[in-house]
Amino acid sequence: MLVGGAPGPSGPPRGFLEDWPEGMDPATCRACHAAVVADWEADFHSKARTDPEMDNMVLNKGFVQTDCNSCHAPRPVFERGLAVTPARRELHPERGVDCVSCHATAEGMASAKPGADRMTLPNGSRPPCRPVYRPGLGIPEHCGSCHNQHGTVDQWRQTSYAEPGEAYRTCQACHMPARSHRMVGAHDLPLLRSGAKLSLAAAGAEAVVSVDTRATAHNFPTDYRTRFGLLRVEALGGDGVATGLLLERKFRQPFRHEPGGSDASGNTQVKGDTVHEWRVPLPADGGKLRARLFYSLRPYNDAPPGEFTTDELDPTKMLLLHEATGP
Ligand code: HEC
Ligand code: HEC
Ligand code: HEC
Ligand code: HEC
Ligand code: HEC
Repeated sequence: MLVGGAPGPSGPPRGFLEDWPEGMDPATCRACHAAVVADWEADFHSKARTDPEMDNMVLNKGFVQTDCNSCHAPRPVFERGLAVTPARRELHPERGVDCVSCHATAEGMASAKPGADRMTLPNGSRPPCRPVYRPGLGIPEHCGSCHNQHGTVDQWRQTSYAEPGEAYRTCQACHMPARSHRMVGAHDLPLLRSGAKLSLAAAGAEAVVSVDTRATAHNFPTDYRTRFGLLRVEALGGDGVATGLLLERKFRQPFRHEPGGSDASGNTQVKGDTVHEWRVPLPADGGKLRARLFYSLRPYNDAPPGEFTTDELDPTKMLLLHEATGP
């Protein structure tokens, strides 16, 4: 399908994708945007179609599910418009979410900077990528074309980060600091650790365990439904060995076919921008407590579709975010 474009700021009309001959290859952008291309190559968007996790999913072995490509190997977001799932790309699906997926417009490559339509090469001519100002590139609805199927943008809207004023932060502000294309997420331990902090304090005969998500602007965890957080509070014996489990909370949005997965009630993710507290009785023997907060990227096993369980906690896949002993 060829989608005709409106006349560009200079030169003949252009299409969204097919009219960028080899220009759609990120390698052609490298000549002038080497640092951006290097960051994108280190980023999971470049692996969205080749990620072994995609192949690991039994229902997608060998990448048989082409409908996944509407977000994992998409045509340009601006073609259908923001906050709408893009169309699947037939050309080079292995490039995943590439430069043209996020940037291409009929007139040229979208920039979030006013004045982009006048950007030039050092010799004064227009760059081949024809940068054009599109404020939509810099706002959450752009990310939401693919990242709202599990409500991440809607969750953001309910936090103070979405309110105009000093606290306002877009997805881009936190995930693209200094406009970096290394958009870190759950594969980045420092980011996860910053997004949910843990503390343990005595309050009379009880201990207060808190998970502080004020540094994240959506649920913890958010988006992909295999991710989950796990909070465990144990009593410790004098030798430091756990003698009993006092509290366990799992934070996760189940898949649709799982119990509680088809409506919001089954979602046990915790809200961002909040301090969450739980109380447990202090051990009568005066012993200490240990609280630990874990994160799991991929809890399911490789059972047939619809049969995989998410209850099996494979300790080799659990990341320890924080541990606190006390009070
Ligand atoms: C021949 C060099 C050249 C090539 C090749 C090139 N660009 Fe550019 N691009 C430029 C220049 C020069 C600018 C203007 C930079 C400025 O003034 O800050 C620019 C600007 C941009 C901008 C806006 C930058 C901003 O600050 O907001 C985007 C987005 C962009 N290019 C994307 C691409 C993509 C995607 C490709 C590959 C498909 C590409 N460019 C290929 C030279 C090039
Ligand atoms: C509406 C857009 C959309 C569609 C359609 C879609 N995905 Fe995704 N997928 C995403 C986004 C966005 C993420 C990143 C979310 C995150 O990191 O939490 C993601 C993440 C994933 C991951 C996790 C990758 C990792 O690194 O752990 C897997 C696996 C996955 N998707 C599989 C699929 C499969 C299989 C299909 C088709 C049956 C599919 N997706 C269809 C948007 C989509
Ligand atoms: C997932 C979406 C996404 C992908 C993929 C993507 N970009 Fe961007 N890019 C953005 C956003 C959003 C901004 C604006 C960030 C801002 O201004 O806050 C941006 C900004 C830029 C800029 C200006 C900032 C700078 O550092 O000079 C250039 C140039 C650019 N992109 C080029 C590319 C190239 C080349 C590729 C492919 C290798 C690419 N982009 C892939 C979303 C994307
Ligand atoms: C065209 C669809 C699309 C758009 C637009 C998009 N993403 Fe993604 N994003 C994906 C997919 C698909 C993945 C999963 C890639 C994988 O792990 O295989 C992903 C993964 C991520 C991750 C997780 C990285 C990790 O370490 O696991 C973050 C963070 C992210 N995107 C942020 C953003 C932000 C911020 C924007 C807006 C500037 C954005 N994305 C725009 C499709 C998109
Ligand atoms: C105030 C900073 C902040 C803002 C704003 C923000 N995020 Fe995040 N994001 C985080 C932190 C911290 C984490 C890791 C902890 C977590 O999951 O909450 C994260 C995690 C993620 C992940 C990783 C999920 C995974 O499975 O890999 C995705 C995807 C994501 N954010 C997308 C978005 C989108 C889309 C927006 C805009 C609607 C956004 N974020 C706004 C801080 C932010």
